[in-house]
Amino acid sequence: MTKLNWGMIGGGEGSQIGPAHRLGAGLDGAFDFVAGALDHRAEAGRDYGQRLGLAPDRAYGDWREMLEGEAGRDDRIDLVTVATPNATHFEITKAFLSKGFHVLCEKPMTMTVEEAEEIVGLARETGRICAVNYGYSGYSLVRHMRAMVARGDLGKIRVVKAEFAHGHHANAADADNPRVRWRYDPAQAGVSAQFADCGIHAMHMASFVTGQEVERLSADTVSAIESRELEDDAMVNFRMSGGVVGRLWTSSIALGNQHGLTLQVFGEKGGLRWAQEQPNQLYWMPLGERLQVIERGEGNLSPEADRTSRVTVGHAEGMPLAFANIYSDLAEAIRARNEDRPCDPAADLYPRAEDGLRSMAAVFAVAQSGKSDGAWVDARPPMFR
Ligand SMILES: NC(=O)c1ccc[n+]([C@@H]2O[C@H](COP(=O)([O-])OP(=O)(O)OC[C@H]3O[C@@H](n4cnc5c(N)ncnc54)[C@H](O)[C@@H]3O)[C@@H](O)[C@H]2O)c1
Repeated sequence: MTKLNWGMIGGGEGSQIGPAHRLGAGLDGAFDFVAGALDHRAEAGRDYGQRLGLAPDRAYGDWREMLEGEAGRDDRIDLVTVATPNATHFEITKAFLSKGFHVLCEKPMTMTVEEAEEIVGLARETGRICAVNYGYSGYSLVRHMRAMVARGDLGKIRVVKAEFAHGHHANAADADNPRVRWRYDPAQAGVSAQFADCGIHAMHMASFVTGQEVERLSADTVSAIESRELEDDAMVNFRMSGGVVGRLWTSSIALGNQHGLTLQVFGEKGGLRWAQEQPNQLYWMPLGERLQVIERGEGNLSPEADRTSRVTVGHAEGMPLAFANIYSDLAEAIRARNEDRPCDPAADLYPRAEDGLRSMAAVFAVAQSGKSDGAWVDARPPMFR
């Protein structure tokens, strides 16, 4: 099988998310890392790129230089990952899609709903893949939850409860720390802080697993550290397209919670419980029976789970492998296009630009509802109303 060429923008030395992308993209040997503009400082980016093994002429100092350089090559990259700070995602993603590249963009895909609609339109018009890195949806047992819901194991779903509540910004003395302060400053972060950063992961998971979209929501947003202009804690109630009731709590002041992403799904025939910090176990409570633990790697769980499990049962798999599953989906999707054949349905699960757009609409809906005492508001982007 021919290898695909992969490039990255952002993810420079010391960045938070760069290493997880490089591990994920490299894990199955589907992608060769051949190009990058890794840092906002040109020389640092060129230097680090070469230390990671990029050829000098493909360790670019700037993403525009990379776009021009790659567009002119016969062995151009097949996929580019955009892992720069949020405010740059729209411009970079738009530029690469326009030149015919497939893109995996970090979340949030854009800063406004209008920009997100433009990206969806462009991806459709160009026929290029625009994926968004809701990487937690790559976990094998999250995919198994989705498969169990879709095949009816839980019956009709009544309630989904999602949490992404950590305690990393709980120190009021940190409010002036420049690494934290920008996140709660509307001029830099936009209309929402904690919901836009973490809540959207939890909301995407609720949609991904139930197969339903968020239609309306009501939000109680709070700045628990009062000097913050934007929220550091929010409780969001929502209703989904197939009637599921959603409950979501997100926080950055939840001291004692480390990562704090969990998902519970309650149906008429059973309930499921999963936590990102113990991703290899899924708790399944069938109605009238005893609580069961489903272990990742057991085999014969579902095509979606079996395809995304690499390490023997009883050995831990973690977050970079969830990212690897998004990359493995993308490799299959790109190859299917190149070979003019249908994509394996068990791999056709990577989050799309449409998901990025729905998240953006939810971010603005949460901000609007939060300012109006929790009034119920339409959470759908205009394009999907
Ligand atoms: N999906 C997830 O689970 C997840 C987790 C963490 C972060 N993120 C997202 O990833 C993105 C990056 O976050 P991070 O925490 O790694 O940030 P970071 O500040 O740790 O790193 C950002 C990197 O991008 C580089 N950079 C900045 N501007 C650039 C430009 N114009 N061209 C090239 N490189 C540039 C910086 O030099 C740095 O190396 C954010 O959008 C964030 O929301 C996603």
